Amino acid sequence: MAASLPHLRLGVNIDHVATIRNARGGGHPDPVRAARLAAAAGADGITAHLREDRRHISDHDISRLAREIDLPLNLEMAATDEMLTIALAHRPHACCLVPEKREEKTTEGGLDVAVGHRTLAPFIRSLVDAGIRVSLFVDPEDVQLAVAKALGAQVVELHTGAYCEAEGDLREMELDRLRRAAEAADRLGLECHAGHGLTFETVKPVAAIATVVELNIGHFLVGEAIFTGLEASIRQMRRLMDEARAQAAA
Ligand code: PXP
Repeated sequence: MAASLPHLRLGVNIDHVATIRNARGGGHPDPVRAARLAAAAGADGITAHLREDRRHISDHDISRLAREIDLPLNLEMAATDEMLTIALAHRPHACCLVPEKREEKTTEGGLDVAVGHRTLAPFIRSLVDAGIRVSLFVDPEDVQLAVAKALGAQVVELHTGAYCEAEGDLREMELDRLRRAAEAADRLGLECHAGHGLTFETVKPVAAIATVVELNIGHFLVGEAIFTGLEASIRQMRRLMDEARAQAAA
């Protein structure tokens, strides 16, 4: 029997608890309460994306998450001066740099670090110097991984959106791209995470990739919580991840 794989961490993204809250204003449902519940349900970390337009998570949410939640906080953000100031003020465990467009519904693709390397370099240095782990959200492409490494990021998060949206043979091809990128990241000495669009149906093949050590999942978990409750939806995701890991090691 093969040796067991490294623990696969689950980062629960609570953005869309805030989306529902913001639909009416006021404080309910509270994303910090969701983060506490996620911790109790087996999450290893909390992920929150502070968008430039503050459409879901607010500055106050980030302050409260940093202060009140014991789990590592992964702050997703665009590489802007405003976000750098906020990150340096709160010093989260990690910052995941993502591309951001106001008109998009969600983060549609990875950050093109190959094109943006000149502006990203000092930005990443400031975060690393402050003791914050830097993760770059990239498409599963060799050039993106090589540039991420050259820029001094410790982590890459592979965008799983194309894999989740594809069907049949195309999905297999996208999965293969993720596998090859995760192996390449490992060879470069980059910690490899993955996320975007993952569901109960799509999570297991990604969870089975040995060199992926963290998945960040949000929208599906919050949507499923409408039917089964947040704790049950997180526990089921955790169970599927553990099953995939155990099967891959067998
Ligand atoms: N990882 C990153 C870097 C993201 O930007 C997002 C979406 O905010 C996620 C993971 C989670 O994606 P989803 O909400 O589709 O599970």
